[in-house]
Amino acid sequence: MNLIQSLLIFLSFGAINAQFITGDISPDKFREGLNSLRRKYAKQYNVPNMHELIWSKDLVNILEPLVWGANWPLHITWRYAALNYTETASSKIETEVNDFLKKPPEEISKAMESSAISSMKRMELFNPLQRFIGCTPKPEGRSTRKIIVCLIGTEGKFTIFDSTGQSTSIPGSESHKRYTNKDGLCVPNNETEESYYGHPEDIIESVNQIREEYSKKFNVPNVHQLIWSEDFLKILKDMDRDNGFKGACVTWRYVHIDTSNKGSIKNELSTFFEKSDVEKRLFVRNNSDSTLDSLEFLNPLQKFIACSRNSNTHRFICLLGTEGKFTMFDYSHKSNEIPGSNCQKRYKNDSGVCVAINSEEESYFGRQSDFMSDINQIRRRYAKEYRVPNMHALTWSNELAEVLDPLGMTDVRDQAKETWRYGAINTYDNSIYQIEVDVTRFFEMNRTAKKLDIESSSDKTTMNKLEFLNPLQKTIACGRKEDEGITYVICLMGPEGNFTIFDTTFQSQLAAGSKCHEGYYNEDGLCIVQIPTQEPIIDYRKMAEEERNKALTEEPEPEPLLENHGNGISLSYLFVFLLANLIFNI
Ligand SMILES: *[C@@H]1O[C@H](CO)[C@@H](O)[C@H](O)[C@H]1NC(C)=O
Ligand SMILES: *[C@@H]1O[C@H](CO)[C@@H](O)[C@H](O)[C@H]1NC(C)=O
Ligand SMILES: *[C@@H]1O[C@H](CO)[C@@H](O)[C@H](O)[C@H]1NC(C)=O
Ligand SMILES: *[C@@H]1O[C@H](CO)[C@@H](O)[C@H](O)[C@H]1NC(C)=O
Ligand SMILES: *[C@@H]1O[C@H](CO)[C@@H](O)[C@H](O)[C@H]1NC(C)=O
Ligand SMILES: *[C@@H]1O[C@H](CO)[C@@H](O)[C@H](O)[C@H]1NC(C)=O
Repeated sequence: MNLIQSLLIFLSFGAINAQFITGDISPDKFREGLNSLRRKYAKQYNVPNMHELIWSKDLVNILEPLVWGANWPLHITWRYAALNYTETASSKIETEVNDFLKKPPEEISKAMESSAISSMKRMELFNPLQRFIGCTPKPEGRSTRKIIVCLIGTEGKFTIFDSTGQSTSIPGSESHKRYTNKDGLCVPNNETEESYYGHPEDIIESVNQIREEYSKKFNVPNVHQLIWSEDFLKILKDMDRDNGFKGACVTWRYVHIDTSNKGSIKNELSTFFEKSDVEKRLFVRNNSDSTLDSLEFLNPLQKFIACSRNSNTHRFICLLGTEGKFTMFDYSHKSNEIPGSNCQKRYKNDSGVCVAINSEEESYFGRQSDFMSDINQIRRRYAKEYRVPNMHALTWSNELAEVLDPLGMTDVRDQAKETWRYGAINTYDNSIYQIEVDVTRFFEMNRTAKKLDIESSSDKTTMNKLEFLNPLQKTIACGRKEDEGITYVICLMGPEGNFTIFDTTFQSQLAAGSKCHEGYYNEDGLCIVQIPTQEPIIDYRKMAEEERNKALTEEPEPEPLLENHGNGISLSYLFVFLLANLIFNI
């Protein structure tokens, strides 16, 4: 915050503040004086973590409506100090702090004990970990005299640096994230990005610590450590706020919170855990279609998070994925599971939490290769369950990928139903569940309803998730496409332009995989593209050997390499190429 802004805030206090300003000292000077004292002590006592105090409008806003009384309750993210006007001069403060620091250690620790229940007065201004300050004048009791009350955050616990003179730490060496050492004091890299309510990136740290605590406390086998997601940041940025949370609860969920502070988040969580079992269940049931507030942070299966701050309200909004459905762990205290014993692929146990083995390779959109194996797994499962004789495995097609690449969503819709059809999923990760939900809804319809459903969709360009179970499709390629501001993974599937679905009435008497198309063979119910498993009929290696021997004894034949045989590559070219490959290892 710049000088003008802080002056404006102070000027808004009106007459009382004019006095503060026209007195010995201005608020900006007050802060400046405090920070130079903090730096001085940091250097004098080798304090590694003394932070610069930033003026906080948020703290001033909290302070203004509060009525000054002798014993304010302690707060978890700020402490307070009351000062006389004359005491705002740093020379005055310095004298008093020096007096305190000169006390023998026993007396200091005795004074510290009382800090758990009340303010340490002006010593609060020298808690090295505090980073924000906001002050306003307040009437003192019934008298007309005013005092200056300051809130100092974000620490709710009082700490003071080692004043014995025995510290050997380097001043400014233990800075908060995004702060750097500037002449012994930890100074923010970008003051405008720091706020009393925290930085969006701090939330992930608080939340992961909380997840670890709960995993151990309740013996949860599958709590995953959250990874920051740039994809979510983009979604947050694009999200039309009027649209609300249209895309929510499919592959991500959301939560609003006030601060990134771990203590505050835990406090919010305890309001849930203090409820009776019936109330807990009701709360989850009532709100699982929208947001369960801070409880969303405890969904063990979530793996990604990103938060941003709404510029209108001071609140943060966080997206968590890739689960759209809320899952709660067993909080009955009866779980015998081992924390970290049920991690997803590519995650491993670390201190009772499932941590990505290589977090850089994980993303909200997931991996195409995972999706390919998942999709064929469910195609096989449905093929066996419904005795589908001709369910073909889908193989990735680079040609389809090339078709898809330049297309926008309108093009996809316009060009569908000729040699390919398409389906949309939200992410590669977790889409199998969405597909199952959708197809189950269809499969459970009666015969007429199914027919009606297909007919009503015949003029539509896609049968949505059912497309993924079209038994006759053999190739697939997917890519990200944006549609009305939301990014989807669009998959093209070929070669069928018409929609077909297998008999879902359980009346099929055929065996799964019994009617594979030519070139495909049955592998456990699914038609798989034929891969030659026999020895090749032509033994290229042997021929190469013979050719080499011949070359040693005979005149070389004219090079057939440069012959042009029209469009195709000539067979002889291929043959020679193969030989060359074997002989010269090119
Ligand atoms: C302000 O000063 C008066 C007298 O100097 C003293 O009685 C009072 O306790 C002081 N108030 C605070 C908050 O230190
Ligand atoms: C500080 O952060 C703000 C807000 O993100 C940004 O607009 C500004 O450019 C940053 N300033 C510097 C010096 O990086
Ligand atoms: C759940 O919703 C019902 C009806 O809308 C309401 O009466 C009840 O108080 C709600 N319970 C909770 C815990 O939110
Ligand atoms: C996971 O790690 C924690 C602590 O490192 C350990 O107590 C726990 O037994 C481990 N879980 C498994 C399944 O190995
Ligand atoms: C089939 O389902 C539809 C809609 O669920 C229903 O209206 C209809 O009566 C059902 N028909 C039969 C024959 O059960
Ligand atoms: C697809 O449907 C159209 C219209 O019903 C039909 O004319 C065409 O022959 C069908 N194509 C295939 C390959 O079945």
